[in-house]
Amino acid sequence: MQSVVRELSKKKTIGLVPTMGFLHDGHVSLIQKALKHSDIVITTIFVNPAQFAPNEDLDRYPRDEKGDIEKIKSAGGKIVFIPKASDIYPDNYQTYVEVGDLSQTLEGASRPSHFKGVTTIVAKLFNITRPDVVVFGLKDYQQAMVLKKMTHDLNYPIKFIIAPTVREKDGLAMSSRNKYFSPKQRPESLALYFALKTAKEMVKSDIKDTSQIKKEMKAVIQATCPTAQIDYIAFTDFNSLDPVKKIVKNTICSLAVRIHAVRLIDNMKLL
Ligand code: PAF
Repeated sequence: MQSVVRELSKKKTIGLVPTMGFLHDGHVSLIQKALKHSDIVITTIFVNPAQFAPNEDLDRYPRDEKGDIEKIKSAGGKIVFIPKASDIYPDNYQTYVEVGDLSQTLEGASRPSHFKGVTTIVAKLFNITRPDVVVFGLKDYQQAMVLKKMTHDLNYPIKFIIAPTVREKDGLAMSSRNKYFSPKQRPESLALYFALKTAKEMVKSDIKDTSQIKKEMKAVIQATCPTAQIDYIAFTDFNSLDPVKKIVKNTICSLAVRIHAVRLIDNMKLL
């Protein structure tokens, strides 16, 4: 990959879309976005063991390499990089990249080693593919902010683009993990989207108190999925991730909820 990139970059600008595979239309939109900002796009497929805790779903994470390659081709992607775990983390691997405060809250608080794994693999993918442009999805909002910070702090000369969340027709944010739901469970996965829409409506009708909004969101989640387990509902400033008590401009609401043992995350800018 490094020698391919060395040749390629003499003539073309390179876009990068890192993924863990099992691609959906959200990933396709990232590839298309990257193509608008670069001559050729490299999509990487790597289910990164370093970002999964031992009790998480690494072993059952859905995979479909053949289908992924078809989707990448039809989106206009020309290069796919699918490294083996032993190539990325050979025996005696010892080097990790970590972002400070930004990676400690929300997802970082619930999944303590997660972002260390994400920043390490993405730094390695940057070093291997040397992109001019990289595109990440807003669906993983905190991940995007943490990676943006890493890109800036480590002086990577890369244009960093965050692309909008792509949703199913009914509002469910696209995610490879949606595959885990049985048809019977699937309607209950809308709990997060319904709660976020409720928050947005409340803000529109001038309710700005986050504890009032949170109470209503919890009720919507329980009504949509009575067995749901809320991990967090947080209101933060979009850029700093600092908590917000009263909704002001640039407040984003993020939440993580377990629906039938599937941990989903979603977010929405409220103002
Ligand atoms: O968002 C993902 O799919 C992963 O966290 C990423 C960015 C590809 C790193 O493994």
